[in-house]
Amino acid sequence: MPKDAKMTVADLMSSPVVTASESDTIAEVGKRMMEVGVGSVVVVESGRVTGILTERDLVRFAAKGGEAATATVTQWMTEDPYTVSPDEDSVEAFKSLSQASYRHIPVVKDSELVGIVSMRDMMRIARIAPVDFHDVEIPEGLEGVHVAHTDLGDVRGSEGFYHYRQYSAVELAEKRTLEDVWFMMFEGHLPDHGERKAFEEEIRPLRVIPDEVKRHMASIATLGDRFVPLEALRAAYGLYASSQDFKPNLDTERAQLRSEALRTCAVFPILIMALYRLHNGDETVEPRDDLSHASNYLYMLTGEVPSPEHARAMEQYLIATIDHGFNASTFTARVITSTGADLGSAVLGALGALSGPLHGGAPSRALDMLREIGSEENAEPWLRDAVEHGKRLMGFGHRVYKTDDPRSVLLRGVAERLEPGSPKVELAKYVEKKAVEILKELKPGRMLYPNVEFYSGVVMEMIGMPPELFTPTFGCSRVIGWTAHILEQASDNRLIRPAASYTGPEPPQDVPELD
Ligand code: CMC
Repeated sequence: MPKDAKMTVADLMSSPVVTASESDTIAEVGKRMMEVGVGSVVVVESGRVTGILTERDLVRFAAKGGEAATATVTQWMTEDPYTVSPDEDSVEAFKSLSQASYRHIPVVKDSELVGIVSMRDMMRIARIAPVDFHDVEIPEGLEGVHVAHTDLGDVRGSEGFYHYRQYSAVELAEKRTLEDVWFMMFEGHLPDHGERKAFEEEIRPLRVIPDEVKRHMASIATLGDRFVPLEALRAAYGLYASSQDFKPNLDTERAQLRSEALRTCAVFPILIMALYRLHNGDETVEPRDDLSHASNYLYMLTGEVPSPEHARAMEQYLIATIDHGFNASTFTARVITSTGADLGSAVLGALGALSGPLHGGAPSRALDMLREIGSEENAEPWLRDAVEHGKRLMGFGHRVYKTDDPRSVLLRGVAERLEPGSPKVELAKYVEKKAVEILKELKPGRMLYPNVEFYSGVVMEMIGMPPELFTPTFGCSRVIGWTAHILEQASDNRLIRPAASYTGPEPPQDVPELD
């Protein structure tokens, strides 16, 4: 094709298209998609495109536990999808469709389906086309922009649902152990009995701080006037990564990278508790390899084996916070990995992102709010006064969820189970109810509901976790998510190197001579 010739959608589209009718069952269509090897089918009724069903819809279907032999396509498809004409310039089409989160767009001419085109193909052409790209509007904070493909999980804000691989994360927290979910994030499937045993035997001996790091721990824990456990963890983990001689992932086989990831996840809890105890002038408690990951974490805090109820509550919190879509720290880990850097650098970058108050940096604030409110009678006036004075209620609102955060619902259940009918839990539930009512009244249309932080502080306090360890504990679970993403990014890598729209004075201008 001549250099300046424009590529149309027709040049990029695939045809014929795999189609389905609205009454086809999910089982029939899933089988068809697998046989032909496509990620979506276009739903056509009376010659007209009425919907599209994608792999993502099938994941959603599976997560809801649907019956594939009887459920029909019409119940799960996206109705009236975007379509594009085959004659449209592919770059223009990409620009106008780039705000939509669809991966496949049906191509329609005179109401007839003639092909299907992937956003990925159009994006590839747009990237090499000699066009000024600055007029593609990017939302502030990249809100809603899809920047990668992942098999690890997703968040569905309007449904109040999130999943790890094809399973509801909440259901995993209800039914599985942390080790099982960790295995699944790394290996792609839940372990069977033998795999579980082998995995536990593999990770438990990794709970070791090497001597060359150990000898610096006390000074890291007592540096500066104020103890910020996440900063201390960053310093200690930086030393640990150097001691392990992690290699740039570009030169590393998956097995080696996986081993580095396992060591990292296993040592995070050990470093945190050692730093905390050393800061307080206490001896460290050596990890025990006969305890589960969660139970050992609590054990190292006090030197006492926690009750099964406390250990399970800790474990459920950890499972529920392993991953959560393309949050800032996960994105950071993937960007660093994409440069071919070592796993330790990617984890350190992610830790930095997590420390920010807008991400993981302030989870004890919801607990402080509950303490300040103190009683049911005080709840309504306190909350009303705060919102009327422009304050934010800690533990409410979320960028993605516009309904209850499923993690908050899970943790409310955990708190109720830990201390049934306790005044603390009853107050939290009362404050939650009042806050939702008041936010609805004073912030209409903003859809503000409790988020993960509202009950996590309550649960943490019940199991004896000091507030300064709330964020590091979040790091203990999220590091499993980060490293799973690092493994995924490294396995199919392309340097993440976006562009920015330049908004400064028009260049080139003469550089003034030195005076
Ligand atoms: N209390 C009162 N008003 C609120 C709250 C809140 N908690 N959250 C949002 N709003 C209002 C906000 O004032 C704004 O109102 P207006 O339109 O009148 O200016 C509107 O809702 C939209 O706010 P926003 O800041 O544009 O929303 P966002 O999506 O950028 O912010 C948030 C999300 C979590 C930062 C925010 O809801 C918030 O600050 N919540 C309190 C802090 C908190 O609980 N943080 C933990 C978040 S969960 C972390 C995680 O998932 O990892």
